[in-house]
Amino acid sequence: MSDGSNSPGNSGAQLTGGIALGRAADVERPLRIGILVSGRGSNMQALVAACRQGHVAAQPVIVVSDRPGAPALEKALAEGIPVRCLDFHSYPSREAYERDLIDTLQAAEVELIVLAGYMRILSSEVIRAFPQRILNIHPSLLPSFPGLHPHEQALAHGVKLSGCTVHLVDEGVDQGPIIAQQAVPVLDDDTPETLSERILEVEHQLYPEAVRLMASGALRLFDRRVVRSVERRQ
Ligand code: GRF
Repeated sequence: MSDGSNSPGNSGAQLTGGIALGRAADVERPLRIGILVSGRGSNMQALVAACRQGHVAAQPVIVVSDRPGAPALEKALAEGIPVRCLDFHSYPSREAYERDLIDTLQAAEVELIVLAGYMRILSSEVIRAFPQRILNIHPSLLPSFPGLHPHEQALAHGVKLSGCTVHLVDEGVDQGPIIAQQAVPVLDDDTPETLSERILEVEHQLYPEAVRLMASGALRLFDRRVVRSVERRQ
């Protein structure tokens, strides 16, 4: 039972209180995910592969791009996933674009939105339409180095560890509650490119794992803390 309390209670093996995230999904009723892209789409591919291989109880039902030439669109089509291109620059306003985006995702009956290299900041309209149901991956250990050029920021600061973070999307930029993180070493001869490659490899593991957790029905949110309860046996 959710009592809305702010700290995790423990009743036997089951966590109580807080807000339940995601839903317990299985092969018969996989979590319906919509993937938003703007570019290359390697995280999208990793996630689609994990779903297809049965590691994640989720089904990519739509891929939406805000950019007509995004390579991710071709990759999604090759996977047989329905795609929509909502060319941001063809809309009279950001509001009109986002209205169409919300309608498109709702028409596809999306339960979880996964931002995979999607280069726009979502307004509160979109976030309110899908509360606690939007994930993002960022290539740094948040809250360090949010926003643009995180690899350059990490190297300029001189950190010895960086990595990636999957988080819920809220009104702030790269600020929502953290679902999962993974660290990688920063090497003395790293450039933004080599660091980015090392982190990207880990992103391809971490993002499917975070979606798997959202589809396990085991996550609860207490203020900013995402806590894992006992997972249902599949
Ligand atoms: C990734 O590094 C991701 O962390 C960031 O944008 C990049 C997207 O790469 N948000 P891809 O399009 O998934 O290949």
